[in-house]
Amino acid sequence: MNILLVGAGGREHALAWKIAQSSKCGKLYVAPGNDGMSDIAEIVNIKVDDIDGLLNFAKANKVGLTIVGPELPLTCGIVDAFQKAGLKIFGPTKALAQLEGSKVFSKELMKKLGVPTADFKVFTGYEDALKYLEGKKSPIVIKADGLASGKGVVVCKSMSDAKAALQKIMVDRAFGSSGDKVIIEDCLIGEEVSVIVISDGNNIVTLESSQDHKRIFDGDKGPNTGGMGAYSPAPVVTEDLLKKILDTSIYPVIRALAVEGTPYKGALYAGIMITDKGPYVLEFNVRFGDPETQAIMPRLKSDLVDIMERAVDGNLKNYDVEWDARPCVSVVAASGGYPNNFHKGMEIRGLNEASKMDDVIIFHAGTKLGRRATDRHNLFLSNGGRVLNITALGADFKLAIDRCYEAVRAIHFDRMHYRTDIAYRAIKR
Ligand code: AMP
Ligand code: GLY
Repeated sequence: MNILLVGAGGREHALAWKIAQSSKCGKLYVAPGNDGMSDIAEIVNIKVDDIDGLLNFAKANKVGLTIVGPELPLTCGIVDAFQKAGLKIFGPTKALAQLEGSKVFSKELMKKLGVPTADFKVFTGYEDALKYLEGKKSPIVIKADGLASGKGVVVCKSMSDAKAALQKIMVDRAFGSSGDKVIIEDCLIGEEVSVIVISDGNNIVTLESSQDHKRIFDGDKGPNTGGMGAYSPAPVVTEDLLKKILDTSIYPVIRALAVEGTPYKGALYAGIMITDKGPYVLEFNVRFGDPETQAIMPRLKSDLVDIMERAVDGNLKNYDVEWDARPCVSVVAASGGYPNNFHKGMEIRGLNEASKMDDVIIFHAGTKLGRRATDRHNLFLSNGGRVLNITALGADFKLAIDRCYEAVRAIHFDRMHYRTDIAYRAIKR
């Protein structure tokens, strides 16, 4: 069967890598993909939100299954459009993508279902929000309702930070209409983990737990990024805790949506804060995590395409998923300056050496093949803030970390930046 994967980053490279191993996979297309995937897939130059373009491509190329990586096409209604055309597609409908696309929708659903989440209030007017804020204490969290490229959440240490965040979202309209509504919510303290499941509408396959590292610098310092590395499993998520997270956070949502006649199909990601009162949901995402997926896919032994097809067909009941018990660590090599201004087009050296190391896999997030006047061959150049996800498995966390950083040190580009403490929490435990 021909498969079309939508997306361009490291998460999509990890998915493509796993999809390409499936006995069910015929020709694999990735739109728009990146050049780092071109050895396993055909790169198709169509943007993720060009729904008509993707649909026409899928029809013309006899695509039997389309898999959506990022949230944007989902919130644009790609699943609805493909379903209407009678094409198989993995992901939730536009209405359900609101779980990520609208924080107000998501929080109100959690409240209705009794899913543990921080207490919150929703505001549509700046004056009302400000008045409410003045009666609260810091730390406090301000969230723009809509998608804001991961920048719409501000965890405010002081009241002045909180007022500035409110002003930025509601008055300066930094995120446009995504700031029409704002959530002011209590700040939760604890350790964050990611729990991702694949749902067929009624049944789920639970992926192994993982943990992201959102801050740019070691020791969780500096500004938030799209994620600087991940590891799986997260030892803090014991079997009991996972059961609790599924029972209090995931199943209530899956069941309620099924009962309402709008079954949720696709990947569902719960961002969890483990507080001293138990696990609380910070957010739901309607897709796989990035960079969590890069640390999870190398551990998945079962056929991902089979799981996704079963999810679309409503056929995941009693599915037994198999995992490699070895932990996996994935470190992001970023462009110096990221998440602020950075340069692109830096020559990347050492990719061949690193990828030949045992149990090392390199997923490309932002690279492209290019050539300068003096070069005889094409070579990989940096082409984004997050450039590579350098990933390794090991018999235990220490070995996985050591191997991963050995590969990281074999790779070089000008102003390459990476955290040196990915998975440190797993070691501490
Ligand atoms: P969200 O997109 O809602 O997950 O928010 C992004 C990040 O902000 C989360 O991964 C947390 O690190 C942080 N965050 C969100 N909500 C809260 C909260 N209520 N308390 C503490 N941190 C939060
Ligand atoms: N790693 C965070 C996310 O995918 O939203």
